[in-house]
Amino acid sequence: MKILGIETSCDETAASIIEGKGNEVKVISNIVFSQIKIHAKYGGVVPEVAAREHVVNIIPVIEKALKKAKINPDNIKAQLDGIAVTIGPGLITSLQVGVETAKVLSYVWGTPLIAVNHIEGHIYSNFINVKNKDYKNNLFPVLNLVVSGGHTSLVLMKGHGQYKIIGETLDDAAGEAFDKAAKMLGLGYPGGSIIAKNALLANKKKIAEVTNIKLPRPMLYSPNFNFSFSGLKTALLYTLKKDKAWKSRVPEYCFEFEQAIVDTLIHKTLKAAIKYKANTIMLAGGVSCNEALREQLAIAITKEAPAVKFYSPDLNYTTDNAAMIATIGYFKAQRKEFTTWNKISADCNLEL
Ligand code: KG4
Ligand code: ZN
Repeated sequence: MKILGIETSCDETAASIIEGKGNEVKVISNIVFSQIKIHAKYGGVVPEVAAREHVVNIIPVIEKALKKAKINPDNIKAQLDGIAVTIGPGLITSLQVGVETAKVLSYVWGTPLIAVNHIEGHIYSNFINVKNKDYKNNLFPVLNLVVSGGHTSLVLMKGHGQYKIIGETLDDAAGEAFDKAAKMLGLGYPGGSIIAKNALLANKKKIAEVTNIKLPRPMLYSPNFNFSFSGLKTALLYTLKKDKAWKSRVPEYCFEFEQAIVDTLIHKTLKAAIKYKANTIMLAGGVSCNEALREQLAIAITKEAPAVKFYSPDLNYTTDNAAMIATIGYFKAQRKEFTTWNKISADCNLEL
């Protein structure tokens, strides 16, 4: 089965073709046009600008994805089994570009549509190229930690398509906190990868071991699985205000900020995995490419819950992409969860 995926929920215009057989998904093409450079000068995503860029780029991006997958444009209906598109959550005007484009293509080609939630898309980035992973034996229950610029959620899955949110952020998402901290430290946008690089530098120079900078681990011992990162951001702001020499200690600040987020995410994830008797923990979302988080979570699982399997997506599929949208589209197509062009619309507050 071949599926076209379309993703425009934020500032990436993306299209991908995947081929699915049984529980295996192979990516045939994966085109991402990132608008990061355009938004960097404003210090964050400007929704109106993002939507306009999507309008300009969506058709060329889809055309490239089809061409790379050697799909003959004259007879698409015979070669594609579905068009999966992100309908929410996200920026409404950005989502609308992807959804309306998918509707037109479905109408013209006669190919059925599959409506996808962006968060389930991130979760299914872990179902791409699973050859070397043990997905056949006791995969479920799966506990997903979805950490991105817009979301920080712990999602329990008892089976494919069965989601239960057991914890989420009460304010800023982890990626958003990274982005805001980077802005305070004068590091530009997007912040996660720049903070991670600086933290690595502090580690290499062995400054991290001796630093006296201490930031809070928010809600670490709260009796639920929710997160809160806005207090951490404020704590950073006040610490910087008190420290006249902060500009010479940026890597140290990055290290401590990253570690505060990593500690909190790991603590809550493990606690939830044990309480809900998860067989597998999966990491997903843009923040999942953070090396400290990947490494330390893997170590913590081996130590504290050694029977639990741990997977994180290939780095290519951590930040927003359409291969993950096409992948969940494939699993939905297997369940015949199709819709038609006149029955879907973008929903910026879509819930899982
Ligand atoms: O999943 P994504 O592309 O978009 C959303 O759905 O939000 O995630 C983007 C987020 C940004 O906040 C970015 O700062 C963060 O992922 N990010 C990272 C890293 N690379 C990207 N955060 C921490 N460490 C990284 N290496
Ligand atoms: Zn995302």
